[in-house]
Amino acid sequence: MKVFEIRDPGTPGALRPTDREEPVPGPGEVLIEIRAASLNYRDLLILRGHYPNLRLPLIPLSDGAGTVVATGPGVSRVKIGDRVAGTFHQNWIDGPPPRHAIALGGDRDGVLAERVLLPEEGLVRIPDSLSFEEAATLPCAAVTAWNALFVQGSLRPGERVLVQGTGGVSLFALQFAKMAGAEVIVTSSSDQKLEKAARLGADSGINYRTFPEWDREVLSRTEGQGVDHVVEVGGAGTIARSLSCTRPGGHVAVIGVLSGGQAELPVFPVLAKQLRLQGIYVGSRTHFEQMLKAIVRNRIKPAIDRVIPFSSAPDAFRALEEENFTGKICLKF
Ligand SMILES: NC(=O)c1ccc[n+]([C@@H]2O[C@H](COP(=O)([O-])OP(=O)(O)OC[C@H]3O[C@@H](n4cnc5c(N)ncnc54)[C@H](OP(=O)(O)O)[C@@H]3O)[C@@H](O)[C@H]2O)c1
Repeated sequence: MKVFEIRDPGTPGALRPTDREEPVPGPGEVLIEIRAASLNYRDLLILRGHYPNLRLPLIPLSDGAGTVVATGPGVSRVKIGDRVAGTFHQNWIDGPPPRHAIALGGDRDGVLAERVLLPEEGLVRIPDSLSFEEAATLPCAAVTAWNALFVQGSLRPGERVLVQGTGGVSLFALQFAKMAGAEVIVTSSSDQKLEKAARLGADSGINYRTFPEWDREVLSRTEGQGVDHVVEVGGAGTIARSLSCTRPGGHVAVIGVLSGGQAELPVFPVLAKQLRLQGIYVGSRTHFEQMLKAIVRNRIKPAIDRVIPFSSAPDAFRALEEENFTGKICLKF
């Protein structure tokens, strides 16, 4: 079977097509024919060699969906023909996170392969209303946004949410926050992207190139109050401004490192405003399943920017790098 693997992260041509022997499911294992996958910024970090402790060669990507084609002895959660997606953390089922979470496409081989073997516990069934491409957008970005807003954030109708940029996590956060009756402010590098965010329901958009001090703009658009929640994906370059435009007692979901992962944290606003900084690392299978119910009931359609053939996977990584997209970039197998 055809796979793409990373042998030398950080080198040109690090992602290579390779033939591997098709795996045979053992006890509790399920063989899935992958039909679609999606990319996350994390996959770019891994390809660039900015991720520690990778087991090389590595089949990248955490997010894929497909059909069950074989099951090993004792499998009871799924059967041949079921449409499924892998969970990001293969060993975080419910409750608090495990001490050593095992993430697809990082701690173990991912889904950029025609067929993938996963433990039955690391799967969710995907609803009929979602295509394989749509389902493949969900395991990382959508579960992260869900966990940030509803599990850790306890978002309520009428609250204000700030989402940064128009990538995968942020557009899911926008859609989920609107679903819950919140007011959403989106920042972006581009007015065109802000128009797309407005079509998904954003109440207000701020171009952070036009307004480098975008936190002041957030404060001015919230009558000086600030927002209740920040979906913090910017990291080092945005965290201080995020703290500045969060209301006293508000919540900052610390998620991303788009502008770097080493920040100098201004402690004073955190204590003076009694802010809650909550680290998020995707979520559990239970979070994924709860989110799927909400997606179906509210007819949420993931924002897919483009679909690229599996054989052109390196083009998808280039597209992600160029940041000339909104929402998700998918691969079709
Ligand atoms: N902790 C977790 O569980 C978790 C899970 C998923 C992702 N993440 C992290 O969250 C971040 C976003 O991931 P993603 O996969 O959603 O990314 P993505 O889809 O690749 O999003 C990229 C977009 O982010 C925006 N952006 C880039 N630099 C920015 C900055 N300095 N400030 C604000 N926006 C910026 C740009 O949109 P505009 O042009 O519109 O500004 C860009 O197109 C990454 O750092 C990723 O590693 C963490």
